[in-house]
Amino acid sequence: MLDRTDDEISRLTQELAERAGRPAEDAYAMPAEYYTSAAFLDHETDNVLRRDWLCVGHVGELRNNGDYFTSELLDEQLLVVRDQEGVVRVLSNVCRHRGNRVAEGSGNARKFICAYHTWTYDTTGALKAAPMMKKQSRFDQSKCGLPEFASEIWKGWIFVNLDGNATPLAPRLDGLSEVIRNYHQEDRFLVFMEEDIWACNWKALFENFMEGYHLSATHLTTLHPITPTRLCKKMVSGEGWTGYHAFYNPDYPPRGPFHPDLTEEEKNNSPMYGIFPNLMVGMGTDFTLFMIIRPDGPDRVRIRWGVTGQKDEPTSGATKGYVDLCRAFNAEDKEKLEILQKALKTRGYPGGPLAPDAFEGTIWDFIQYMGRKLGADAMSVNTGK
Ligand code: FES
Ligand SMILES: [Fe+2]
Repeated sequence: MLDRTDDEISRLTQELAERAGRPAEDAYAMPAEYYTSAAFLDHETDNVLRRDWLCVGHVGELRNNGDYFTSELLDEQLLVVRDQEGVVRVLSNVCRHRGNRVAEGSGNARKFICAYHTWTYDTTGALKAAPMMKKQSRFDQSKCGLPEFASEIWKGWIFVNLDGNATPLAPRLDGLSEVIRNYHQEDRFLVFMEEDIWACNWKALFENFMEGYHLSATHLTTLHPITPTRLCKKMVSGEGWTGYHAFYNPDYPPRGPFHPDLTEEEKNNSPMYGIFPNLMVGMGTDFTLFMIIRPDGPDRVRIRWGVTGQKDEPTSGATKGYVDLCRAFNAEDKEKLEILQKALKTRGYPGGPLAPDAFEGTIWDFIQYMGRKLGADAMSVNTGK
């Protein structure tokens, strides 16, 4: 007999299969439980999040050799460091002695000393000192380094794959690289970074960031004057990403300075893209906003959000103005999503019809992705809906 947990997972997998089997023009959102079930989050953690590439930060946080930051990701402790040779590594931040966390916060270091018994590691994770341990005849120092997770850098963002079995990230984003090539994201500088926690499900936040349907209604005075809903256009999307183009209101002043490679059409829209499953990017002609998300329970999400600009000017008026705009519309999204999360506690919401491709096709793409990852695309679909 199925217990409640298995029942929830099985029911939601069936629902996912049903949604994934629908054509985009008859797409439906997922039911409430998809956003509230703790059992389903565990299922996603094991089968989606630990298996795929997750963004953890930006190389702009690690400008100098020895720069590091720490992060908790799905109960793993990460130490993200630029070693003394300049290589960015994602190490396990768990001491090989008795399992204490080795580094805290962020900063610059030549070595990491575990505060518990002072085992000392270099910036590659190799164990360099372990007091008294030489007296332990079988102790092999070379085997006690901090394990390194698979990592990749794409356009400045640092990704980690916790289970080590994911296929390389970059090739699956080739199509996206083509779409955004002329904006030259790889040349933009990190000028702002902040952390936040919103009381909503991680998928609800991904979907919110990735759909343009709410722009005019939710962001009436912040984004509607710049990128109104009616001008949204779906981006060609692929296995690893989804996106849309948020075209600029022609009455709004040009958002330069423009990279000389940008075409006239490119000067008039921000590609908005989400790299499954946890990085969302709004790439304006002037600045880029990005959000890295991590679930912290079914109804909490930890966010690292940042801004990159064409100039390395974190304190310029232009940077501050853009960050203020982001703060304003983020607050609007947060308010909506926290109410949404409360409303989704209902047992009576089966998922509603989605708006056309230009506005909510990205949500349909995300459902397809989740379906593929959870095996729901391969299930037989015959629910009679
Ligand atoms: S747990 Fe780190 S030195 Fe003992
Ligand atoms: Fe929004």
